[in-house]
Amino acid sequence: MQIEIDKKMYEVPNHVAIILDGNGRWAKKRLLPRNVGHMEGAKTVEKICEDAWDLGIKYLTVYAFSTENWRRPQKEVNALMKLLRKYLEDCIERTSRNNMRVRVIGEKSRLDEDIRKAIDELEEVSSANTGLNFTIALNYGSRDEMIRAMRIMSQDYKDGKITEEEITEERFATYLDTRDLPDPDLMIRTSGEQRLSNWLLWQLAYAEFYFTDVLWPDFNKKELENAIVYYNTRERRYGGV
Ligand code: IPE
Ligand code: IPE
Ligand code: MG
Repeated sequence: MQIEIDKKMYEVPNHVAIILDGNGRWAKKRLLPRNVGHMEGAKTVEKICEDAWDLGIKYLTVYAFSTENWRRPQKEVNALMKLLRKYLEDCIERTSRNNMRVRVIGEKSRLDEDIRKAIDELEEVSSANTGLNFTIALNYGSRDEMIRAMRIMSQDYKDGKITEEEITEERFATYLDTRDLPDPDLMIRTSGEQRLSNWLLWQLAYAEFYFTDVLWPDFNKKELENAIVYYNTRERRYGGV
């Protein structure tokens, strides 16, 4: 699918994966508590879902909380969980209006029970929706995801459900949290950091990477368009000639 940006036509990536980073620095710059940055960041997530769909993006996946983020000060973790509760609640209501299909990836058992329940409800009520496929990564770490996949796969091997010959890239991918999603075409990280921080290591094998200094709460539709324009300057090779 193509869209027009500034009177030129561009190919839209099917799946965009974003590391939303810089909430803390956004708040610090304004001499506000970090939590305010996270609150603004949550609003940006809400807006960018609408913008992504407007631009023709079918899959949007965001990194909201990593397996490493538990090491932040307890006060910040608590504030993030409180914000998450509110976000999930609002999202359950919103999906009936915006037709978004929401999924959560990551290791859910470490999340509080009420949060897990809200996730189940959100996934359930939105399961038949045909709009944006929006995926939120919570307590997500790519290494953790692969190890969890390996554990289930090895159990299936022991149970005779899978043979050694059947251990292929395609089959392995069906054990990952992202089994229902295509691989991302474009990965965006905000706030100027240029590292993956344990994000979709397997799935990003052929994605284009776009880094911007913009802090996540300031990210908007124009920034997303800039990323799409950049994506179009890349010649995609998929390991071929
Ligand atoms: C990203 O913003 C949001 C989460 C990781 C939850 P940060 O909180 O990492 O913001 P900075 O990197 O400190 O600016
Ligand atoms: C990555 O951002 C994780 C999320 C955006 C959820 P961080 O800000 O936590 O990553 P590091 O610590 O800078 O690598
Ligand atoms: Mg950060």
